Amino acid sequence: MKRTRVYDALNAESATPELLIKGWVRTKRDSKGFSFLEINDGSCLKNIQVVIDHTPEIEAVLENVGTGASVSILGELVESPGKGQKWEVRGKAVEMLGFADPETFPLQKKRHSDEFLRTIAHLRPRTNKYGAMFRIRSELSWAVHRFFHEKGFCYVHTPIITGSDCEGAGEMFRVTSLGFEDLKKNKEEQLEKDFFGKQSHLTVSGQLPAEMLALALGGVYTFGPTFRAENSNTPRHAAEFWMVEPEVAFYDLHDNMDLSEEMIKFLISHVLDKCAGDIELFAKFVDKSLMSTLENILKEPFERLPYTDAVELLKNCKKSKDFEYKPEYGIDLQTEHERYLAEEHFKKPVVVYDYPVEIKPFYMRLNDGGKTVAAMDVLVPRIGELIGGSQREERLDVLERRINELGLNPEEYWWYLDSRRFGTAPHSGFGMGFERMLMMITGVTNIRDVIPFPRTPNNLDF
Ligand code: 4AD
Ligand code: MG
Repeated sequence: MKRTRVYDALNAESATPELLIKGWVRTKRDSKGFSFLEINDGSCLKNIQVVIDHTPEIEAVLENVGTGASVSILGELVESPGKGQKWEVRGKAVEMLGFADPETFPLQKKRHSDEFLRTIAHLRPRTNKYGAMFRIRSELSWAVHRFFHEKGFCYVHTPIITGSDCEGAGEMFRVTSLGFEDLKKNKEEQLEKDFFGKQSHLTVSGQLPAEMLALALGGVYTFGPTFRAENSNTPRHAAEFWMVEPEVAFYDLHDNMDLSEEMIKFLISHVLDKCAGDIELFAKFVDKSLMSTLENILKEPFERLPYTDAVELLKNCKKSKDFEYKPEYGIDLQTEHERYLAEEHFKKPVVVYDYPVEIKPFYMRLNDGGKTVAAMDVLVPRIGELIGGSQREERLDVLERRINELGLNPEEYWWYLDSRRFGTAPHSGFGMGFERMLMMITGVTNIRDVIPFPRTPNNLDF
């Protein structure tokens, strides 16, 4: 017999004389003559209640069944006389598929701290909170694809292993097939022997190859893992994270801002619609103001202001003295500044654009006057930077000059420069940190808690 998912059983239209439920026991209570089991199979937040009368065989099985065990239950779906659920299962037979020793099973029926649960990342998906988190994560991924698919964008796969540093920030992980001993020897000689015959890394962004595809297919997006060896141990940085990167031919910076705003709103609406039950858990137990924050983001147009104005605002605001980093023209905005703008001042997402050329990568389009580039960052309440993007420099001479100014090697970018030699066109794109979006949607404040097995400095368990 085929198993019925708990979600489907709970949403059944009618009673069913026979069904098979398989899942993990959340609780078991014994009474005289029968037992209650709460079973969860991950298909939804809710458990299904099973009431099962004792027979000698059933008692013998149930004796070993406790919280955490996996079971298979054959029974009948009936209307529940109890409160809180429409349907329950009258069990007729039970089989234990996997024992969980109550002495050592770490997930007992009490609230565990996020810090503790991180140490058992392999088991935490079995809790309500992390089960909900990973279902939302799945739905959010699907929403990304739905958004771009409905807009006619082409989903492209950009490489993970790369020979170029997109951001030019030198925060890359090396990829090599050489042994440790070889690595100590003469660098040039060894590189020739290495798998690719040159330095290779894990990508920090799929943007540069995505640009090549946009300049052929029009509108594209890539959505994959990216890697950064920045040693910042913050609640917002992971060494391995997923990025959503659209890239669009013939878009200018303002089209780009429009796209980012439309996408953020679409993603939130989709998840609120499809994951109502799971989101409710976060609104109840994680962030009481979650729903109003999200509804506010949906309702209001995003604020847009040039970097120069943002800095003036930060310099002159009441909180100016309290910032750890003094706001000043030319600095990269810090999380405290970004959060002040989005959370306290405007109380909604803010798109800051036209940043000083000195603090942004080589590929951003130089504005008239040469002082700023057509960059945009989308800052959101609680998180700070959610999106970074720009209009790209499409003029060959300007791009070559920027590459040289920054001390990069133009030969390594020959293919990228070719796109500006042959039929170059204005184009723009951005990257959204997928985990940061999940943090915003759930109110969770640590990136380690929105990714099943987080990778951060000195942490490579699981
Ligand atoms: O602003 P970033 O560095 O932009 C780029 O990489 C561009 N090449 C993207 C593009 O235009 N196609 O990164 C984009 C976003 C950030 O706004 C942030 O949300 C996220 O990626 N991000 C991180 N998320 C988690 N952990 C990290 N270490 C992150 N670094 C960036
Ligand atoms: Mg950025």
